Amino acid sequence: MHLAALHTMSQIQLNQYGNLRHFLSIEGLSKQYLTHILETAETFLGENGQIINSPLLDGRTVMNLFFEPSTRTRTTFEVAAKRLSANVLNIDMQQSSTKKGETLRDTLWNLEAMAADIFVIRHSASGAAHFMAQTVCPDVAIINGGDGRHSHPTQGMLDMLTIRRHAGKPFSELTVAIIGDIKHSRVARSDIEALQTLGAKEIRVIAPKTLLPSGIEEFGVKVFENMDKGVEGCDVMIALRIQNERMGSSLLASSEEFYKLYGLTEGRVQRAAPNALVMHPGPMNRGVEIASNVADGSQSVILKQVNYGIAVRMAVLSLAMQGQLQAKGLLNQGMA
Ligand code: CP
Repeated sequence: MHLAALHTMSQIQLNQYGNLRHFLSIEGLSKQYLTHILETAETFLGENGQIINSPLLDGRTVMNLFFEPSTRTRTTFEVAAKRLSANVLNIDMQQSSTKKGETLRDTLWNLEAMAADIFVIRHSASGAAHFMAQTVCPDVAIINGGDGRHSHPTQGMLDMLTIRRHAGKPFSELTVAIIGDIKHSRVARSDIEALQTLGAKEIRVIAPKTLLPSGIEEFGVKVFENMDKGVEGCDVMIALRIQNERMGSSLLASSEEFYKLYGLTEGRVQRAAPNALVMHPGPMNRGVEIASNVADGSQSVILKQVNYGIAVRMAVLSLAMQGQLQAKGLLNQGMA
């Protein structure tokens, strides 16, 4: 990304002291700040990985605005907010007055008038969370729960927490492969940005040409169209969902063909480094991106990703709330 654009991104999501006040994207955040998010998430995890409650958001109101379906993100944001003692409202956007023609801007202003402190938004339009933070609700913390193909920053951070806790090596020694529908994946973008910022040794993307975005080489990744070669020696393999809903016309010959060429099977896992991590953000298409026995196998950390999603979302909710208060002069300067 261009430096000027990165600067603008930082200006929107960081307060005057360099702390988070919205969480819109991993772009523009420093290695130090990403590490701060991970370390804050660790404070909400007990010795056995259990979630530790906190009163940090007592009396605050978090509103979940999901314009697209979600199981993991919406639910773990709700669990995270409740674990932080916040009031949580899940607004059913399918039953809201947006269906009667009310604009997003008016909907948000009305919800803001109901004393929301934090909005978590998922939207099919890339840039929706930025729009909210920049033009609609600058005084309410906005957390991006996934916008179009652009960004899914809390997924990126929970993936980094999973790698940090389970890969057994620092990021600087890790080769990470991201496999499948890179073109339509906001998770791929957020993972690549986070891995680069945290200094991963090598980032590979493995996909057919039709599922690679143009200019992918500029992301600083190694591109493989051959899956067997791509997974060779990898420490972490992240399989992605085929996003049929974002494909204008079919970019795949068939699901069977994709599985044959790019499915994460036991044989391919054996080509990676011993005990390499198997990851998937979910929802999974078993037998398309990943074999069932691999998804449920001993190297899979897929359900740990979901669990760490609670701790990461507790970290992001509390940091953004503190950053908003700090921006208004209600908290001291320093790392919020
Ligand atoms: N990983 C993820 O975003 O899953 P959901 O769509 O279920 O939230």
